[in-house]
Amino acid sequence: MIADTIALRNCTELEEFRACVTLQKEVWGFADNELVPLRIFSLAPKIGGQVIGAWEGEALIGFAFSIPGTRNGHPYLHSHMLAVRESHRNSGLGRRIKLFQREDAIAHGYELLEWTFDPLEIKNAYLNLERLGAIARRYNINQYGITSSPLQGFLPTDRLVAEWWLTSKRVETLLSAGEHPSFMPEVRIEVPAAIYAWKAQPESRQKAAEVQLRNREQFLAAFSRGLSCLGYERDATGNGTFLLGHWEEDWSYASK
Ligand SMILES: CC(C)(COP(=O)(O)OP(=O)(O)OC[C@H]1O[C@@H](n2cnc3c(N)ncnc32)[C@H](O)[C@@H]1OP(=O)(O)O)[C@@H](O)C(=O)NCCC(=O)NCCS
Repeated sequence: MIADTIALRNCTELEEFRACVTLQKEVWGFADNELVPLRIFSLAPKIGGQVIGAWEGEALIGFAFSIPGTRNGHPYLHSHMLAVRESHRNSGLGRRIKLFQREDAIAHGYELLEWTFDPLEIKNAYLNLERLGAIARRYNINQYGITSSPLQGFLPTDRLVAEWWLTSKRVETLLSAGEHPSFMPEVRIEVPAAIYAWKAQPESRQKAAEVQLRNREQFLAAFSRGLSCLGYERDATGNGTFLLGHWEEDWSYASK
């Protein structure tokens, strides 16, 4: 469990935004010219976005950053970054920041929070689909180009789009009962636990690239059939599997 000495709040001061930029650099290891700059952090809350900080005393140990968007006339939030300092991971803080972000978004009238995530990141996929109740049914090929972040293993930045329908039955059931509603999986897409090691070493990076390409084709084929990622399994050795099925709810801004 996370220490209750960690306080979450919306950031409003320049020094708070500066701490976010510093933590961003620490977490992703981006080159300076790829960082989201201070000016954008300070702008976001003024235009309907969010900068939420998790503080242990004076130290920032996590943050979420989102900017407003619209689709077919509907306002929504795009969450561009979620970060937790390495020393504080896997104790529920990332989820806690997202739940704070959800409450704040609902209070400002939003129904939808979206973000993109790397489908090769087993932990993030599990957090998004199983612990938060997001769904994914869109796939963007090499969204940001190849970046300088070692986390991304110098692979094309393929991304799934997580849609977090904040007051959907799926999310509300998960938050109240601890599990999302069940569904019938029709397609399974696998990510081996070794992917992290393969991405980290130049000599094995080709193996990671092959998994990415294979899975890309499987996601695109399944999404073209109207399937969504609705579940995620982890096995005892850390392998991950996306479970895709038909989502029974009709939340969408695509054609409304
Ligand atoms: C993604 C991130 C914010 C998560 O923060 P966190 O505080 O560690 O997250 P939480 O502890 O709330 O939840 C992580 C969940 O994944 C689980 N998990 C941890 N390691 C895992 C692994 N290797 N495989 C699968 N699941 C894993 C945890 O057990 C936890 O689940 P639980 O609540 O059922 O125990 C953090 O890892 C991070 O900053 N990563 C680098 C930046 C990044 O990738 N950001 C997201 C994209 S913008």
